Amino acid sequence: MRKIGILTSGGDCQGLNAAIRGVAKALYREFSDNVMIYGIQDGYSGLIYGNYKEMHEPDFSGILTLGGTILGTSRQPFKLMRVVDDIDKVENMKKNYKKMGLDCLVVLGGNGTHKTANLLAEEGLHVIGLPKTIDNDLWGTDMTFGFQSAMDIATDVIDRIHTTATSHGRVFIVEVMGHKVGWLTLYAGIAGGADVILIPEIPYDIKSVVAELDRREKAGKRFSILAVAEGALSVEEAGMKKKAFKAARAQMPYPSVSYRIADEISAVSEHEIRVTVPGHFQRGGSPCPYDRVLSTRFGTAAAQLIKKEKYGYMVALQNGSIVPVPLGEVAGKLKTVPVDCEEILSAREMGICFGD
Ligand code: F6P
Repeated sequence: MRKIGILTSGGDCQGLNAAIRGVAKALYREFSDNVMIYGIQDGYSGLIYGNYKEMHEPDFSGILTLGGTILGTSRQPFKLMRVVDDIDKVENMKKNYKKMGLDCLVVLGGNGTHKTANLLAEEGLHVIGLPKTIDNDLWGTDMTFGFQSAMDIATDVIDRIHTTATSHGRVFIVEVMGHKVGWLTLYAGIAGGADVILIPEIPYDIKSVVAELDRREKAGKRFSILAVAEGALSVEEAGMKKKAFKAARAQMPYPSVSYRIADEISAVSEHEIRVTVPGHFQRGGSPCPYDRVLSTRFGTAAAQLIKKEKYGYMVALQNGSIVPVPLGEVAGKLKTVPVDCEEILSAREMGICFGD
């Protein structure tokens, strides 16, 4: 009997259930009655505190299009808090892994999740990871599931903002998620026809941004749209040491960087400006068809690795194929947007301003 534990960890995204379904259906097909799947509740928390349950084939039906995660999720910052209330989280996870008698733990998550997955693999557990996140910032894979669905939503927001922006002749900032990287903003910004795209990888100079807004106004454009990454930062901030940057941000009298940019623009120009923050909308609802397919491919690839007893890998998309990448190569690395990537060069060819 193969015993497989499965959990989803970190921020949720579209495609988690599709991926869970992919793993489970492929396992049942491979091992029929000779497999037991344990659903571990709320991410690594469930493994730490022993919240898990036996699941059965019908549990994995009808969930392909379902948003969120049927297993629940949570964030667990291990580095700072390995031991809490005398509970050593890692030791507890090892204990519960053994208690279930697992052959393999399948984790669906982003950067933090894979860091922990690698830690557990180094502790001797059999672990396989699946790359999920709307941020697309996981090293080792060209694409994470969730990204395309979130891009659809962020693009739709920019599309809709266009009609109100043009009616009123306003400047609009649409703040896009993405944590510390600009993939989502770059793609949604290009797809939505934003005039200015600000991403963390290209620190912005407010003078360049205002100059572009003025230029558009003089050219007779009634409105301008800025796609701003939630992690965008100014040239001045980019020059700061990490600690000073953190302290400055803690003092920032705005709910997010977009509001500060709006104020910076208002301070030196007459542009009428509004800010829209779609926030967690970008992670909600049903996965788009691309993500359904990608999640399914990742899920079945994970089942294949289990069949071959090949553990300690994250399944990844590279040049159109699904390949295993060692967890040790993925853990702790962020995939940022290369500033000279084709997408940025193409956007620049179109005259899109990056604020530099
Ligand atoms: O990692 C996905 C993500 O949505 C980021 O884009 C965002 O910065 C973060 O999660 C928000 O986290 P939370 O859901 O914990 O507020």
